[in-house]
Order: sequence, then structure tokens, then C-alpha cells
Amino acid sequence: MPKDTLTITDNRTGKTYEVPIENGCIRTPDLRQIKTGSDDFGLMGYDPAFLNTANCKSAITFIDGDKGILEYRGYPIEQLAEKSSFLEVAYLLLKGELPTEKELSVFTDLVTHHTYVHENVKSFMDGFRYDAHPMSMLGSTVAALSGFYPDAKNIRDERSREIQITRLIAKMPTIAAFSYRHTMGLPYVYPSNDLSYVANFLTMMKHIGGAYKVHPVLEKALDVLFILHADHEQNCSTTSVRTVGSSQVDPYSAVAAGVGALYGPLHGGANEAVLRMLRDIGHVSKIPDFIKQVKGGEGEKKLMGFGHRVYKSYDPRAKVIKRVADEVFDVTGKNPLLDIALELERIALEDEYFVKRKLYPNVDFYSGLIYEAMGFQAEMFPVLFAIPRTAGWCAQWEEMVTDNEQKIARPRQIYTGATRRDYVAREKRTGQK
Ligand code: CMC
Repeated sequence: MPKDTLTITDNRTGKTYEVPIENGCIRTPDLRQIKTGSDDFGLMGYDPAFLNTANCKSAITFIDGDKGILEYRGYPIEQLAEKSSFLEVAYLLLKGELPTEKELSVFTDLVTHHTYVHENVKSFMDGFRYDAHPMSMLGSTVAALSGFYPDAKNIRDERSREIQITRLIAKMPTIAAFSYRHTMGLPYVYPSNDLSYVANFLTMMKHIGGAYKVHPVLEKALDVLFILHADHEQNCSTTSVRTVGSSQVDPYSAVAAGVGALYGPLHGGANEAVLRMLRDIGHVSKIPDFIKQVKGGEGEKKLMGFGHRVYKSYDPRAKVIKRVADEVFDVTGKNPLLDIALELERIALEDEYFVKRKLYPNVDFYSGLIYEAMGFQAEMFPVLFAIPRTAGWCAQWEEMVTDNEQKIARPRQIYTGATRRDYVAREKRTGQK
């Protein structure tokens, strides 16, 4: 019977060690016993950017990057995108099971009745300059919520956690829409309790005078996009939420860290970057030149919306998005940048550079085109990512808080600085060489 252990021989000492293998992992603290002498700290793992290090056990989202599989709580993303709704998926992520009719109705009602923000939140947001990026307004305002709900500190209280999570999911669209209205110099539109989660958000964004009616195809499309973005296991922003949350701070502060991480162009800012890239290219005839620059750029210039740390085949979310794009363009008319995107994809998928590195379109390659066709400015794209990802962040935060194995996150380092030296008086210093 083969043993679930790993035998390690330290060639520095000739000693052999046996460490357990569990879930295909060794625990790197088990390496600490491997020492050259009693004053040796012990062996550590070195893994910048966590390329091969699991930081937690999680029962929320499963990804098989080679096969292009994404499942929330075991349900394939394609089935959820086709048959479910965003709030149902949010419930699934948070509670682990799809809700019954009654459970969904209670959850929907709860979220709907927490969409308003304190009037002072509006004053807080008014402090931003007219040209503030809506994502920085979103992050700051979410962080500010911790000042409005001091009870959120009670992170060991299950009921308190549930209330804060409901508030976060409910208020995110309101804050997002207010951020947009502020940058446009438009009055804020208050939430409407008789609308769906998505229709309410679209109304708060777009309503100007008269009656505003959300187109059902666009409402459905945004709901599907929200489902696709709801969670993606231990990505950069989720890891940020878990890391900040591991200090036992309130969830608003932890989720604000997630918004910050998501703002970056390598993460949630990618769809904004895709659109700018497509605009810069300008015409299909310029694509070969652009591809040449990407390949010669030594990583400086990237084909935004391509590549993924985990997916080494077609991102399953991108497949669903392509279908949604057709439905949206039937209503809004085709985004003229679509032809450039399609041709870019065709050329890249045949090009040895991208094939060899297994670079395929990711979720962000087409989402920006849909958002633009729906009338959103590029600055709002990462915000549109943050709204649904809040459900994932909250589910992951809850899982982290209730996991007995978790402690405050505190990585080790390899010190490469100066060895100990004595202080030099100012007049005796020779300055930097
Ligand atoms: N265009 C051109 N080359 C690329 C690209 C790209 N988009 N992505 C990766 N490469 C190259 C990279 O230069 C490297 O080449 P080499 O082996 O010669 O050094 C190789 O492919 C491996 O890339 P990497 O940077 O080591 O991969 P990573 O896992 O660290 O980065 C990534 C993943 C998503 C940050 C990266 O693919 C990227 O920057 N893509 C563009 C930004 C983007 O679309 N981000 C959205 C990700 S999906 C939404 C989300 O979850 O946030």
C-alpha cells in the first residue's frame, strides 16, 4: 500500500525526513524541522505571487484551468448563467446550496431593503472632485461604511456577519451608481424596492427625468455578467480580502481592500484596458503591427484580456460572454470595436507566441464591449466587476472567519539587505554611490 507521505533527503546533512501529503499538498511548516544545525531557522518555501502555494481550504469555487472548468459550489458556470439569477447565485455562494423559492424570496427581500445608504454617505461622496475615478470613490466609500456600522467589528457574531454581508451586497450597486452620478454631475437616484437587483442598479445609473424603463434583454445580460463575475476562488482581490480580514478587522475594511486590488489593470481593470487597447488599434489593418509590438515588447505591452494565471485553455466565462454579446448587440447595435476584437482573437489564437504560452481570451476580453454598447463609460467597467464580486468576497471572508485553521496572514521573507552595521554620524556619510 503506497504511503501518503513525501520523503526528503537533505543533501547538506544527509538526513532524511518524511512529511505527510494531504489533498495533494505538503504543509510547508513541516519543512521547518529540516535544519543544518540547532541555530538554523529551518527550511521554508519561497513562492513569490503564490504560484504553487495553497493559502486555504475552500468549498466555494472550483476551477480546472487546463480543462476550462468553473463551478460554484459544484454547479457548472454555464448552467448557472443560463438558468439562475445573480441573487440566487449570491445565496448559493454564501450558504452553499441553491435556495428554495421561500429562501430566495426572503433573501431578495432582505437585500432589497438594505439598498439605501445613510444620507451622510452622500455628503462623504460629494467630497470627491468631479473627475475622481468611480472605482476610487467606490473603494473609499465601502471603507467608510465601517464607520457607519460599528457593530461590524463583532466578527465572531454570526448574526452580525450576516447583516454586514447583506448590507454589502445590497449597498454596492447604490454606491456604484452614486459614484457614477457624481462624476457626471447628475443628482443621485435613490433605490427602488419594486425593481430587481440589476434593474434597480441600471435605473439608479441612468434615470434622467421622465420615466425610465430597463430593457429586459439588457437586464438579463447584466444579470448573466454578474453571475460570471461573482467569484473566482483565490484571485488577487479575494486574497486581499482574506488577508486584510485575517487581522479580524470588520468586513467593510476587508472588502475595500478587495476593491483596491480589483482596480489594477492586471485584474478588474483589464476590461477598461481592453477597450482602450482596441481604440488605440483603431482598425483591423493595424492588428498585425500591434501583435508584433506585443511579441517584441518583453512583457511591457500586453494583449489585454488575454491570458490567465489559472486558465490555460479558453476561459469558460469568455464563451458565455460571447453569446451574451450577440444578444446585447441585437438590441443596442453592434459595437464597432467588435470587428477588431474578433480579428485580434483570430490572429492571436493562431500565433505561435500565444499558442505556446497558452494565452486565450479571458472574461474581460469581450465584457468591455458589452458594457460600452450598454452605455457605460470605461471607468465604470471595474465597478461593474466589483458589484457582483462582493458576493464572492463575502462568501470567502465568511469561510475564512469560520475556519479554525486560519490565523492572521503573515508571510515569511528572504532577507537580502545589509548585514548588521553601526550608525554613521551625518557629517561622516559619503552619500549613495
Ligand atoms: N499578452 C502578451 N503576453 C502575455 C500576456 C498577454 N496578455 N499574458 C501573459 N503573457 C506572457 C508573459 O509575458 C509571459 O511570457 P514569457 O514566458 O515569455 O515571460 C507568459 O505569457 C506567462 O505570463 P505571466 O505574466 O507569467 O502569467 P501570470 O500568470 O503571472 O499573469 C495575467 C496572468 C492575467 C496577469 C496575464 O496573463 C496578463 O497580464 N494578462 C493581461 C491582463 C488581463 O487580461 N487580466 C485579466 C485577467 S482575468 C480577470 C480577472 O480575474 O481579474
